[in-house]
Amino acid sequence: MCGIVGYFGFRRADEVLVSALKRLEYRGYDSWGIAIKTSKNKIVVYKRTGAIGDISEFELCDGCVGIGHTRWATHGKPSNVNAHPHTDCEGNIAVVHNGIISNFQRLRERLEGEGHNFASETDTEVIPHLIEKYCKEGLDYENAVMNTIKDLEGSYAFVSIKGDEDIMIACRYKSPLILGIGDGDFFFASDVTAILEYTNRVIYLEDGDIVIVSRDGYRIINGGVKVERSIETVPWSLREAEKGGYEHFMLKEIHENPRVIEDTLIEYLRGDEISIDVSFAVGVSDIVFVACGSSYHASLVGKYVIESLADIPVRVEYASEFNYHDSPLSRSLVIGITQSGETADTLEALRKAKRFGAKTLAITNVLGSTVTRIVDYVLYTRAGPEISVCATKTFIAQLMVLYIIALKLSTMPKSELRDFLDKLRRLPNKVRSILDEEASIRETAESLSNYENLMYIGRAIGYPIALEGALKMKEISYIHAEGYPAGELKHGPFALLGKSMPIIACVIRDNTYDIMLSNVKEVKARESPVIAIADKEDIEVEKFVDEVIRVPAVDAILTPVTYSVALQLLAYYTARKRGCEIDKPRHLAKSVTVE
Ligand code: G6P
Repeated sequence: MCGIVGYFGFRRADEVLVSALKRLEYRGYDSWGIAIKTSKNKIVVYKRTGAIGDISEFELCDGCVGIGHTRWATHGKPSNVNAHPHTDCEGNIAVVHNGIISNFQRLRERLEGEGHNFASETDTEVIPHLIEKYCKEGLDYENAVMNTIKDLEGSYAFVSIKGDEDIMIACRYKSPLILGIGDGDFFFASDVTAILEYTNRVIYLEDGDIVIVSRDGYRIINGGVKVERSIETVPWSLREAEKGGYEHFMLKEIHENPRVIEDTLIEYLRGDEISIDVSFAVGVSDIVFVACGSSYHASLVGKYVIESLADIPVRVEYASEFNYHDSPLSRSLVIGITQSGETADTLEALRKAKRFGAKTLAITNVLGSTVTRIVDYVLYTRAGPEISVCATKTFIAQLMVLYIIALKLSTMPKSELRDFLDKLRRLPNKVRSILDEEASIRETAESLSNYENLMYIGRAIGYPIALEGALKMKEISYIHAEGYPAGELKHGPFALLGKSMPIIACVIRDNTYDIMLSNVKEVKARESPVIAIADKEDIEVEKFVDEVIRVPAVDAILTPVTYSVALQLLAYYTARKRGCEIDKPRHLAKSVTVE
């Protein structure tokens, strides 16, 4: 959840690190810190709680080697002391770490028994102390780090510097870490957006990699032997990771939805041919989706779409639940959806799927992310970097890939397929027209902003739309919002209905239409204000509700795209009216790398 960076070169390290950390802030941000090796070979550490800000109080910043960290607390509350970097007893070795050292308590007790004094409550602090211990026992810095990682259990990406050594050492095991290759300088980062300003040439490090960067270049060692890793050119530009005139990244990213849909279609369609290799589906009896958050909601849409178009049984599980029971999977295809490619529960679910003999496929937005090394097959979404914590364009991109998979697996006649593809191609313009009319959604949002509770309801494919709409609303506006299958309301939630509990009803003109309208009448009868989201050709719905958010008409199966974009805007403008932070909601992080 934390973000780490390292810089080794000729520029002022403090400036590089702070700018890189600002770009990583979305990974976690209750505190931050940097450590610089000064020209006098001293390590100076500056760390504090709160957002990454100016470094004016930090005087000794003339070094060109340093490490930085933005923290999302796991072990120990957010505080200056618990913020990284952490150092050894003498303050000569500094470390930033992302991950969890699961055996830290035992290691700490052992080290304390040997006279090491600890300053923080963190698991990370054992790392500099272990390096110090091995150095004192006579090993050189590099070998001391190698010995240290033999002691560590859990997951880590860490970068370490030592005052009296002109090298930087980084290690990766089960937490993301890349090495950026600049022009005479080197960067480490949890993800590429942090360093795009300086270089787009990166190495995606593998588990077990130890990188030693010196004035002569870099070496990568794995399992005690030197290894070569290919240098990739990142296709993202810095511009894509900037706000581009929008007030928030979230709004910019919602506005990128039409482009994202187009890019996905360009990627996976060659005329009317779908250009994905579906060998992952050969011989499978069923599909199981594992995912978290918005990716879980995309999976629920995937179930509906694949079962309707391709006639294969599909189930969907929260990755965090899937990991705790045995599952018959030997003939299954397990699909993990994860925009970041780093969500710990999803990674673990896919590892389990492999252990149980399933074929595995990942749908992810991040090239070289950890998930891509775990699974048998990968399909990329083409959303570009998503900075706002709240998933918007990556969710829409996931839906697009799911339509493509379902169509490829379906046996529908060619003419029907062509028709469907035409409808997909029309989606970008449909979404553009929603964006063109965002002012009316904004008005509705502003009228919602004084409520503290909202209920989103839907049926069939409308149910995951309701769940995702409610998730967007709660995570950025802090209004308590629930998504519910409309038919379940009578089994409890009815007790909550009344003037202070507006209902957002996802009304879709399919076989659920009449029953949804009955449900709407039932909640109206209990005095809940009702806002429907419905298509422009639905002339009935407005007779039964207080307000209608209109979207262009599409086939029911495509409503997750149009309705979700409108609900993204609804959440955005509600949060904005409430003065919320939006891109960095409290307590949340974009990439959840702890289970
Ligand atoms: C976090 C993010 C969500 C995301 C979820 C799953 O909670 O804030 O936006 O949906 O993680 O992330 P993933 O990267 O696996 O899709």
